[in-house]
Amino acid sequence: APPAPRGADLAEPYLSGHLASLGLAVEYVRAEGNTLYHLDDDGAEVAVLDLVGGFGATILGHNHPEIVSRAKDLLDRNAPVFAQFSLHPYAHDVARTLNAIVRRESGDPEPYLAIFANSGAEAIEAAVKHAELDRVLKVAELTEAIEAETEAVRAASGRGTVAVPDDVRERLGLRPPAAGAAGGTTDGVAGGTEGGTTDRVSGGTEDGATDGVAGGTRDGATDGVAGGTRDDAVAVPVDALAEAVLTANSALAQSPPVLLALEGSFHGKLVGSVQLTHNAAFREPFGALAARCRFVPFGRPEALDEIVAAERRTLFGLAVEDGRVRLTEHELPVFCAFVLEPVQGEGGIRPLDEEFARRIRETCDAIGCPVVVDEIQSGMGRTGTFLASSALGLRGDYYALGKSLGGGIAKAAVTLVRESRYRARFEMAHSSTFAKDGFSTLIAARTLELLEADGGGAYRRAEERGRQLTATLDAVHRDFPDVVKEVRGRGLMVGLELHDPSGSPDPGIREHALSGTFGYAASGYLLRAHAVRIFPTASAPTTLRFAPSVYLTDAEIDHAGAALRGLCAVLRAHDGARLLGS
Ligand code: F0G
Repeated sequence: APPAPRGADLAEPYLSGHLASLGLAVEYVRAEGNTLYHLDDDGAEVAVLDLVGGFGATILGHNHPEIVSRAKDLLDRNAPVFAQFSLHPYAHDVARTLNAIVRRESGDPEPYLAIFANSGAEAIEAAVKHAELDRVLKVAELTEAIEAETEAVRAASGRGTVAVPDDVRERLGLRPPAAGAAGGTTDGVAGGTEGGTTDRVSGGTEDGATDGVAGGTRDGATDGVAGGTRDDAVAVPVDALAEAVLTANSALAQSPPVLLALEGSFHGKLVGSVQLTHNAAFREPFGALAARCRFVPFGRPEALDEIVAAERRTLFGLAVEDGRVRLTEHELPVFCAFVLEPVQGEGGIRPLDEEFARRIRETCDAIGCPVVVDEIQSGMGRTGTFLASSALGLRGDYYALGKSLGGGIAKAAVTLVRESRYRARFEMAHSSTFAKDGFSTLIAARTLELLEADGGGAYRRAEERGRQLTATLDAVHRDFPDVVKEVRGRGLMVGLELHDPSGSPDPGIREHALSGTFGYAASGYLLRAHAVRIFPTASAPTTLRFAPSVYLTDAEIDHAGAALRGLCAVLRAHDGARLLGS
């Protein structure tokens, strides 16, 4: 390992080194609206246009006066911040407001119940954890229903033997009748039980001493017994049969959950959520710590169908028809959750298309898999509606919100769970010291008030400011098609993708391209030369991301446009020295 950097830095000291090498080692001392200030060598404030927007946490800008005033008021009147396990009426208020918004945007009256959290990753993990509780309870309910079926067969057989066709025995792994015993009496056909002398059920014959197996002589239809013929059934002690069903099912019923997510997804970096984050560098070292996720290629519903077909499992149940045992099949809930972003953020600002969203919803409905809509980055009005999924017509069973929920001041996140899926016992099984605290929850309430004010003026602003910003970036794209690959996004969640510069004649640019830091090098240039703060997305390092507040001004948009033109000119000239400030 390299020696630890010298100096006073003990908090992630290597990160400081990276920031320095990228020209991003700046300490900001004040923040307001879309501006961050640092000090120059003479101690004078230098304003920087902040288009990173607190990674999306400042939809209302830095230190919005109304949020600051609410925060001061709470502190001035010594409002309780941590009074856990007591009534939190303001949390109900936030949940009620969120419900009213979801209902307005989706048109669906079913309520959602709220579980509060401290960060986005935690809200995702709460959703997945709740979905897993729901899944294991559903597996238990299914197992009970199957036991009831078995019990009914037991009762019908008078607890003696039942006629079990060959194919049923095969599927349950019951030992076949001894060779050469055709038509005759065979011993011990019931796998695993000894001494159970049973008679071959002479289905087609009239004389059949069928040992209490009724209906063996009826002609024709085999009532769902695949491949069964009239004379292939064997009398098996019902207990042995029940045991075989239990054995076949129990291994399956303990199948680990399968999580689904999209390629390019980002859902957090905690132990559970990082397994839903597609970027291998973030995820792979930690694979053994959490449940497996299958990643569905973006925009390819047929790949989802293949994954579902490969992962689907069914449990056996029993029924008796015409005196013969038949296997029933029950879909095992193996799919814990499909977690997705309506507009992928870290994956490079990629909006889901409506048709793909519809196919995902349909497939999840068919397999009983809940859809967790991660609105942590796209929600809170950023894309022009409170939920980006509303514009797609995508309904979630869960929603996760974070980032701007805390108004740019507090850390707050929340998971919404559709009432019909909600498990009351989760509330006693899950908690956090800090979640739902008085301060962050009341700040969240004020934030929602400000967003909803004036008939949702903030959403209209996000849409309109986003359109202006995108038009400016589109113009840069038109003038620099050799540098800019694409501009895309929704509202104030905008990405500008640069062409891959790994073929650049400049060795410095090439090196950054190959190490995945090219976007950050561009950030360093924009900060140094244009006093603009823009970062690439984490998993698509050539896409610059814009997430400013709804108060973005025309002047700020012009400033952004001029800065990007500067960047494009440097890149067009392959001017590594200017880009890297060397
Ligand atoms: N989900 C999405 C869609 C996110 O963009 C993020 C964070 C998270 C979950 C995790 O939230 O950081 O509060 O735990 N995205 C950050 C970003 C890292 O850069 O946009 P968290």
